[in-house]
Amino acid sequence: MSPANEFRADAEWARAQDEHDPLRRWRDEFLIPPHDGGEQAYLVGNSLGLQPRGVRQAMLDELDDWARLGVEGHLHARHPWLPYHREVRDGLADVVGAEPGEVVAMNSLTANLHLLMVSFYRPTPERHAILIERHAFPSDRDLAASQIRFHGLDPSEALIELDADETGGTLSMAAIERVLGEHGQRIALVLWPGVQYLTGQAFDIRAITRLAHAQGCTVGFDCAHAAGNISLALHDAGCDFAAWCSYKYLNSGPGAVAGAFVHARHAHARLQRFEGWWGRNQATRFEMRPEFDPAPGAEAWQLSNPPILALAPLRVSLDLFRRAGMASLRAKSRRLTAYLAWLIETQLGDVLEVLTPAEPERRGAQLSLRVRAGRDAGKSLFEHLVARGVLGDWREPDVVRVAPAPLYNTYVDCLRCVEAVRAWRSRTT
Ligand SMILES: Cc1ncc(COP(=O)(O)O)c(C=O)c1O
Repeated sequence: MSPANEFRADAEWARAQDEHDPLRRWRDEFLIPPHDGGEQAYLVGNSLGLQPRGVRQAMLDELDDWARLGVEGHLHARHPWLPYHREVRDGLADVVGAEPGEVVAMNSLTANLHLLMVSFYRPTPERHAILIERHAFPSDRDLAASQIRFHGLDPSEALIELDADETGGTLSMAAIERVLGEHGQRIALVLWPGVQYLTGQAFDIRAITRLAHAQGCTVGFDCAHAAGNISLALHDAGCDFAAWCSYKYLNSGPGAVAGAFVHARHAHARLQRFEGWWGRNQATRFEMRPEFDPAPGAEAWQLSNPPILALAPLRVSLDLFRRAGMASLRAKSRRLTAYLAWLIETQLGDVLEVLTPAEPERRGAQLSLRVRAGRDAGKSLFEHLVARGVLGDWREPDVVRVAPAPLYNTYVDCLRCVEAVRAWRSRTT
């Protein structure tokens, strides 16, 4: 039976799904923002994930250890600060499908992409272009254009932006294959999203990597909207590098420490890199030698000793992912998002157009909804949802994004969202 045949649009059904949800206990691990004596239907974990309850204590523990131990906390804190980044390494590796040595938690997303591009965007006179998609997140376009300029080149010539070719603004694999077939020999780097921020389209990282490598290009992924959302297998996919932020589906707080992936085949390669002492081999780092002896793997890209207070939330959140299991979370996410899509299509087709692909493997938790009546009506709808305690986010000119996150969202949240839109429709017609 296809999921759509079992779905129902009534509260009794939605409540029963939540009661029988094998992952329902994880919601209790989160602080759900209040609304009108109850809780929000918080559907915006694609922008900022909710705070795990354990974060406050974890941060207080670090403050206490600092007060109690001073510098000795580096070795004797409950979670010693010196090897602290390693506490999050294995959890991150699990979430993105990598070997532990391929990932590191550091900096912020845009900073990590710049640092990785120093190594993986090495233009030559013949091969100097960067391929991105036309609606890349502005920061991705900025970093690609500024890297091109940094090498003395001109983005108007060396930045190739692929236009969407499907209705709703999504991109087919055929279009990607075509542009690589046409321009592959002059493309140095393909920089692509794991999940596109505006449409919610999930890309086949393995297939894009294969196509890019077949043309001799390096390939890296911005996994901001993919990490903790879809099942990633970065190692097996074979991409050269990736980076992601941790404040969205990874629930590690505003401006949280980001992640980076460098494929194991580059672990010992002699690459150009912007270097700092924390990228040195841990065994010899404190010998303070003049020469840079790189750590093997992704850790070589670290510059500075890590911000412990900022890493504590990531450690707590990754522990939740480990215990809940990414495969189980993804299974719930598929069904939850399919339910929300079904509700919208069957109840609200006259108000909203779902831009996100319908195929489960071409989307994650997020649905991008175009308000058919345009921008002004869209803003009015969005404000109405907020007033009703249904939180999504607004993207100009006419898109509302909603993303039920499997760790803390419910079938009732999805139904509440649709009922709130229905109430808005009956008020405005
Ligand atoms: C796809 C994508 N790339 C890059 C960024 C920029 O992230 P940061 O400000 O953490 O560098 C964001 C932020 O939301 C994003 O969604």
